[in-house]
Amino acid sequence: MVDVDWQRLSALAVEAMERAYCPYSGFPVGAAGLTADGRLVSGCNVENAGYGCTLCAECSMVSELVRTGGGRLVAVACVNGNKEPVAPCGRCRQVIYEHGGDECAVLMPAGAMTMREVLPGAFGPDDLGEVAGAAAPRV
Ligand code: THU
Repeated sequence: MVDVDWQRLSALAVEAMERAYCPYSGFPVGAAGLTADGRLVSGCNVENAGYGCTLCAECSMVSELVRTGGGRLVAVACVNGNKEPVAPCGRCRQVIYEHGGDECAVLMPAGAMTMREVLPGAFGPDDLGEVAGAAAPRV
């Protein structure tokens, strides 16, 4: 696994968590990511009166990743309101996988793990290419 300054990444996630908009759940989340070219990106959860419209912190982080030039995520840390690591939800694992792949490191409550471990057998862009005529990634 890549060597990551988890303290620095977690501190950025805490900063983002402190900006969360979560009037419905009262459960703020912050996410921070390190890119292969050394950039840092972050995001917080943004809830909505239509509960299902809520954006998770990881989705906000990936939005910043794409907006600031894209690239690959090599490490991701997410924190809860106690400033402790929180496991990304299933949907967010899929979102992180798209931009980090199997080798991306994720700080889980039990310690750092790879995406291969937290989302084994993931469905990803390569699977689309398996079927002739299906949408292949255009990047
Ligand atoms: N949440 C995240 O931001 N990321 C996750 O991976 C898990 C859940 C948010 C969504 C909602 O605003 C709150 O946490 C409670 O579920």
